[in-house]
Amino acid sequence: MSALLVTGGAGFIGANFVHHVLAHTEHTVTVLDKLTYAASAASLSDLPTDRSRLVVGDIADAWLVDSLVAEHDIVVHFAAESHNDNSLDDPKPFLESNIIGTYTLLEAVRRHGTRFHHISTDEVYGDLALDDPQRFTEETPYNPSSPYSSTKAGSDLLVRAWVRSFGINATISNCSNNYGPYQHVEKFIPRQITNVLTGVRPKLYGAGVNVRDWIHADDHSSAVLTIVERGRIGETYLIGADGEKNNREVIEMILEQMGRPADAYDHVTDRPGHDLRYAIDSTKLRTELGWEPRFTNFAEGLAATIDWYMNNRDWWDAQKAAAESRYAAQAQR
Ligand code: NAD
Ligand code: DAU
Repeated sequence: MSALLVTGGAGFIGANFVHHVLAHTEHTVTVLDKLTYAASAASLSDLPTDRSRLVVGDIADAWLVDSLVAEHDIVVHFAAESHNDNSLDDPKPFLESNIIGTYTLLEAVRRHGTRFHHISTDEVYGDLALDDPQRFTEETPYNPSSPYSSTKAGSDLLVRAWVRSFGINATISNCSNNYGPYQHVEKFIPRQITNVLTGVRPKLYGAGVNVRDWIHADDHSSAVLTIVERGRIGETYLIGADGEKNNREVIEMILEQMGRPADAYDHVTDRPGHDLRYAIDSTKLRTELGWEPRFTNFAEGLAATIDWYMNNRDWWDAQKAAAESRYAAQAQR
């Protein structure tokens, strides 16, 4: 049994991970989260209080981070500004949380000799052509496109440098697009589900040919737990579940599953610098650590996600209006 410090545990994937850890292990969990607009304390409200707690604070607060790291065995670092569209509008918070925040955590784990796992994204590799037979591997060169992905790439490089220069006990994982419960409604899938539920037409950027490699957040969680428990120090593992779909297919599946005509959506202005395709080769994680995804049927995982948003309107109602005002202020999206 270990004491885990989970940064960003009140966000989408962090909350799914905390639920997964408490359900499948004996570990205790402290969540450190600043509760930005993207967080929801309600995502953690049903957790056992004898094995989990929430500390509200900033990962860039060196004193707070040092005192928490000193009390824990393992740090699992999810906290980040995570939305590409926001990073195009105002990059500064991305530098503060993703770069300075990660640096602050690295210095604390260096002082205390604490095991550290860094959560990152496939976006650090840039994008692929639609017909490229290659997928991203751990050897693909970094080539990020957006302010968000460049700060995630920067944070990965800091972790690698702290491993090599200071010998910290760290691993890194780079995962593809997650879907599932507790995802903020600014993101593609919950935005369209909640658009339908509020009587607004779903919005597809550009022609919708962009491909994302979808993985259920619970599969991301099991992969991270596997790496935390059995990953080799200093290594990077790519996490993916062979879930490539283009955005048009996904929006049409959402509409059909919600009983609407498949073409009842609008094309809106494309995202500047919009990455065309992500695709993950997760052979290393599967062969070396024996991990396999459980949610291999995207249509079923999507139906369960739609049900979750239909049954948890209280969770997303307030953030929906705020997210749509941000979109209205950003562009025509
Ligand atoms: P999210 O935006 O839903 O949650 C991020 C959480 O981090 C929020 O609770 C927020 O309050 C917290 N946070 C942000 N800045 C902080 C700070 N300075 N101090 C403390 N807490 C802070 O993001 P997500 O989608 O859950 O992503 C989590 C991690 O996974 C990120 O590192 C992201 O880069 C990575 N990732 C996401 C995806 C995806 O599809 N969403 C895929 C691969 C990797
Ligand atoms: O690949 C991993 C990344 O996936 C993570 O690192 C990011 O944190 C996460 O936000 C996600 O990034 P994307 O930019 O791919 O996700 P988003 O949900 O914003 O958009 C998914 C696709 O859908 C993308 O091609 C843009 C498109 N889109 C998005 C929105 C919000 C639309 O067509 N319409 C929309 O309304």
